[in-house]
Amino acid sequence: MQKQQRKNPLALSKKNMQKVGYKVIDTIIEHLTEMESLKIHAQQSPAYLNRILGGKIPTKGQNPLALIEQAKQEVFGYILHVDHPRFYAFIPSPGNFMGVMADTLAKGFNVFNGHWLAGSGSAAVERITIDWLKEICGFPKTGGGLFLSGGSMANLSAIATARKIKLINEGKRGVVYYSQQTHSSLAKGLKVLGIGEKYRRPLATDKALKIDLKALEKAIKKDIKNGLTPFCIVANAGTTNAGVVDPLKKMAKIAKKYNCWLHIDGAYGAAAMLTKKGKKAMKGIEKADSLTLDPHKWWFQPMEIGCLLVKDANHLKTTFQVSAEYLEDTKAKGLEEINYYDHGIQLTRSFRALKLYFSLKTFGLKAFKKAIQKGIDMAEYTEKLLRREKNWQIITPAQLGIINFVYAPKGASLVEIDAASKLIAEKVMHDGFAMMTTTKINEVTVLRMCPIHPGLSKLDIRETIRRLGLFAEEVI
Ligand SMILES: Cc1ncc(COP(=O)(O)O)c(C=O)c1O
Repeated sequence: MQKQQRKNPLALSKKNMQKVGYKVIDTIIEHLTEMESLKIHAQQSPAYLNRILGGKIPTKGQNPLALIEQAKQEVFGYILHVDHPRFYAFIPSPGNFMGVMADTLAKGFNVFNGHWLAGSGSAAVERITIDWLKEICGFPKTGGGLFLSGGSMANLSAIATARKIKLINEGKRGVVYYSQQTHSSLAKGLKVLGIGEKYRRPLATDKALKIDLKALEKAIKKDIKNGLTPFCIVANAGTTNAGVVDPLKKMAKIAKKYNCWLHIDGAYGAAAMLTKKGKKAMKGIEKADSLTLDPHKWWFQPMEIGCLLVKDANHLKTTFQVSAEYLEDTKAKGLEEINYYDHGIQLTRSFRALKLYFSLKTFGLKAFKKAIQKGIDMAEYTEKLLRREKNWQIITPAQLGIINFVYAPKGASLVEIDAASKLIAEKVMHDGFAMMTTTKINEVTVLRMCPIHPGLSKLDIRETIRRLGLFAEEVI
């Protein structure tokens, strides 16, 4: 058929698309190469942003190049640069350019990655990438999994699966066990799934912030005695607070003993499976019935890409598969054709796998191993430097790239130390050279650093600590 001259009120000419496209790519590259000279944290008031960005719904169009320029200044000018080398707060998100380009391509082709009929190529890439992650984590070939928006969705989907598989009789009152150090997304997932506080057991931890196994068994026995059904134990493979790994092997044994599902939250830490030290710390991860790991955390992918792996791929189907007459034509022909809408909540889903696939293919697993090892080393280097100084006190040692510490000069009270952590973090943020946040360990506010950007240097760490010392002297 001859190419038609289509009338489309929402189209740009080829020339204009190229102009816009080049401007977008140039803007991204400028950001990635010049970010270092910017303050990590920039914020504006709601009033300013509403005035500059708001207004009436535009009835007429405007020049897209000017729009991109405005967004560069007034939108991206006021965001936190979570991909900056010296961003140590929360869980940093250092992306990589191939991941960004893969996302751009996937959006450009508007891939519908819900079923094989619409995206056999994309489903194949997702399955191949999932298989790689399964292999790294020691999951069996019969296992399965899928990419999701992030760790919160992966944890929620895991509990939904655990409940479906373990509580076949839906009338049973099932209980979930986890340590108090577990990420809040788990509690949120339980809440969404209608598992109320009466059926949740956030358990105490030991001195090393690992789940107390005695408390775990005691709680399980008590619940059984009271007619409840323990159905799921959640273990941490790298807590958000301190990078702590629960005793995975022992928890797997307990889970087996009481016929519970073992879910491991390795949203952040599971990436360390690529390193010698991490692999040792994670012994037992392969025993999980399900595992959360987030490529948009320590696998250097742009948001959003989380992942859920399961030991038995059929369990996802049992949990999520439903049929509809308008989807009859998409029914998979044979086991090799995978319909991801049967494996999770989403029907319409984007092609998240491509970014991890492209990055692994471009840089190779060796580069990822090096990058992750570097994060572990940088946290250990930070600890070494802080231990040399007389007024800094390590609260939790460097573990899987996370370290917690306080400024505690001789004679300072706990209240003063607590307040100092908050004030120092504020000063770091206003300074803009680095960014870190606080958390609480055993009720005391501490400074927390997660220095995992693969471009970070020892010089960055030394200068960060020098500045920390100056700020600390100002506040206490
Ligand atoms: C251990 C852990 N689990 C789950 C989550 C939630 O992940 P997301 O923010 O991708 O939903 C986080 C977030 O930092 C996390 O650190």
